[in-house]
Amino acid sequence: MRHNIVELKHISKSWGSVKALNTVNLDVRKGEILTLLGPSGCGKSTLMRITAGFETPTSGTVVIAGQDVTQMPPEKRPVNMVFQRYALFPHLDVFDNVAFGLRLKGLPKAEINAQVSAMLKLVQLESLSGRWINEISGGESQRVALARALVNRPSVLLLDEPLAALDLKIRHIMLEELKRIHTETGTTFIYVTHDQDEAMILSDRVVLMNKGAIEQIGTPDEMYGAPKTLFCAKFFGETNILGGHVKSADAKGAVLNLPIGEIEAPVGGLRSGSDIHVSLRPEAASLTEARAGKPGRHDAVPGIVEDVVFIGSRVVYKVRHASGTVLKCQEPRTAAGIRFGVGSHVSLQYDPAAIVVLSG
Ligand SMILES: Nc1ncnc2c1ncn2[C@@H]1O[C@H](COP(=O)(O)OP(=O)(O)OP(=O)(O)O)[C@@H](O)[C@H]1O
Ligand SMILES: [Mg+2]
Repeated sequence: MRHNIVELKHISKSWGSVKALNTVNLDVRKGEILTLLGPSGCGKSTLMRITAGFETPTSGTVVIAGQDVTQMPPEKRPVNMVFQRYALFPHLDVFDNVAFGLRLKGLPKAEINAQVSAMLKLVQLESLSGRWINEISGGESQRVALARALVNRPSVLLLDEPLAALDLKIRHIMLEELKRIHTETGTTFIYVTHDQDEAMILSDRVVLMNKGAIEQIGTPDEMYGAPKTLFCAKFFGETNILGGHVKSADAKGAVLNLPIGEIEAPVGGLRSGSDIHVSLRPEAASLTEARAGKPGRHDAVPGIVEDVVFIGSRVVYKVRHASGTVLKCQEPRTAAGIRFGVGSHVSLQYDPAAIVVLSG
């Protein structure tokens, strides 16, 4: 059995002087949920449209299920796409929207009825079968669009920001629904979003794109915990980025010279003297009270609490170091409430394993 259902090889796409994609190589594994994530204009929709066959690449090859489909029209490919601006047929009711593709194929009526009913059940819209499209909500329209694509039993379902038009609460409900539908159908999903939370919740793997190229690919956990570049570290969640250089290094670790002092990081392979950036996640610091006359641990960073922000279950302290650098530190809110007020002298301790050294 083939491991990869989609293989995009050296894909580039230009419109005149606009270079939308620059030598993209991507393998999509059978049955996974892969998300394409990245800022507006980075080429996500273009890559999806090329995979679906609505655009041809300027150069490169699209292989689906082992077959070169680069020149094949969309309707011949074993993929279906749910568009960024989804278009349902307003002159048809919910049932007929979902039945559309099966009627085109000329399936017998009883077969169509059975398949459409099963699909409406899957997306929990059985009771709205006879409604017109202008009589259903945005979230329900989205489910109809999904059912309409899934009823064709595509090997790959391409979803281009399918939830963008929905409010946050419904989006989260729909994400759970999508996960359930993915599990029940086993279909490979390629999902586009520019929302990092959506990507984290949904994905087996995330592809972070930047200016028409792939920046990094990994599981949500790898993207958050082990970003390789500055762009990736900044894209996923809150972090403190500090510039500095490598004071000394060997195969196992390095001493980093940063504005907040010297930090030992268990990161091998760095070059002594080279410039680096470091990402320190706010939750990777532990805060203790700094007592006058009592020296802290040699690797502790002293500072003064400048601001305290309370976000539901978490408390974020902004701590100013003598160098002027302000570090965000986050901890769960305890029953004791907020531990340090503005003006408190504190000492910050970083878990060495959570110090991420970035290239570029
Ligand atoms: N038909 C076209 N002709 C010319 N330029 C285009 C065309 N389609 C897309 N582009 C350009 O290609 C680049 C990538 O566009 P694309 O739609 O793939 O971005 P995206 O990552 O999907 O962005 P968004 O998050 O805003 O949807 C953009 O600079 C866009 O302006
Ligand atoms: Mg787009």
